[in-house]
Amino acid sequence: MLFAGDTMIQTILDDLRQHKDTLRKLVFSDRSDKSFPYEKICVRPFQKNGETLFQLEQFKGPQVFHQNLSFDELCTWVETTGEKQYRQLLLSAAGTDVQYTIRAGRVRRKARATANAAAVPKAHNREKQYLLREGENIPALVDLGVFTKDFKIVKAKYDKYKQINRFVELIDDAFRASGRKKITILDFGCGKSYLTFIVYYYFAVLRGIKATVLGFDLKADVVENCNAVAARYGYGDLHFYVNDVTTDKLFDGKVDMVITLHACDTATDYALLHAIRHKVPYIFSVPCCQHEINAQIRPGGDFDLLLGDGLLKERFSALLTDAVRAEVLRQCGYRVDVLEFVDLAHSPKNLMLRCFLQQNKTPDLSAVRNLLARYGVRQTLVEAVCAVDSQQ
Ligand SMILES: C[S@@+](CC[C@H](N)C(=O)[O-])C[C@H]1O[C@@H](n2cnc3c(N)ncnc32)[C@H](O)[C@@H]1O
Repeated sequence: MLFAGDTMIQTILDDLRQHKDTLRKLVFSDRSDKSFPYEKICVRPFQKNGETLFQLEQFKGPQVFHQNLSFDELCTWVETTGEKQYRQLLLSAAGTDVQYTIRAGRVRRKARATANAAAVPKAHNREKQYLLREGENIPALVDLGVFTKDFKIVKAKYDKYKQINRFVELIDDAFRASGRKKITILDFGCGKSYLTFIVYYYFAVLRGIKATVLGFDLKADVVENCNAVAARYGYGDLHFYVNDVTTDKLFDGKVDMVITLHACDTATDYALLHAIRHKVPYIFSVPCCQHEINAQIRPGGDFDLLLGDGLLKERFSALLTDAVRAEVLRQCGYRVDVLEFVDLAHSPKNLMLRCFLQQNKTPDLSAVRNLLARYGVRQTLVEAVCAVDSQQ
């Protein structure tokens, strides 16, 4: 069917309104004016606070720029920009694809039924909505091996993806409650940096917040690759450094948040120490393997029953480590919540210390030191905080 002028845009908008609730995507391609900055624009619905919004993914070379619109704003955008700048438009809704080809002010409309009749998520859909949806165009995650080329989650990375989404949700809650307008985050033991990238992507790209995110790790090759991927996608305030986090020479600027996800053994303690020393307001730390106490602990009192069997001793040592860390942080003025941040099915190491600095406090670690001494244990964070305290 051929249309022209007002009838043309009216037809597109009528189709859009008719398929509003089952829209899967809109794709604008074949620019009519090559000086228009985006080669292609995809629009997809997503849920936010129970409302359906529409995200524009605007492709410019290797970069992607995002903009979120309500349905009315989307209609206005289609009328004023989309339909004027592109000669091809695909509207894909449940059970239908409509292709528009615009030539010399006339539009050819071709609709066809498709097998894909599944409805898109609605506002009342109770299915878990992730902050970062599978299918979202995040090319950096393809390079890192978390997404396939068509933006599906790589099967082996599914648990990591769930952990990271939950991590970002928790950080985001704290950030929104803080009323801050910008954020600087340090990630200790960032490794392949899936979390670091997603945190940056979420704040800087999706939400458009001034975010500086720095990752530290011992592995030079991994750090080099992460910096190359960040540069490739124009992530200007995301940087990675080869650095041993046991040193305190990491970053001189003001830090809002320290994060760790499975930073090995005592690397977690040094991250917490850094936050305590620099009075970092927020800490989100998911510890990893904890060998330190397990390697030292010997019978000493009421808990000896837990030390006779290897498995119990290992679990008890891990719990004791995190209980001691939480107590040190509380003694240093933090409010500490100990959370299961994801279901055990997605990681056996699923305990998170979520900490908010509430007051300046001189820590009294005598009780925790006495407890550890009875069992023959010296613990990194306790020793380091006591050393800092005695220097002041
Ligand atoms: C299990 S990986 C976790 C990586 C990443 N955070 C994640 O969740 O995918 C732990 C990382 O901590 C790093 N690491 C361990 N000790 C460190 C130290 N002293 N300084 C910097 N990085 C360290 C290791 O090189 C490794 O990449």
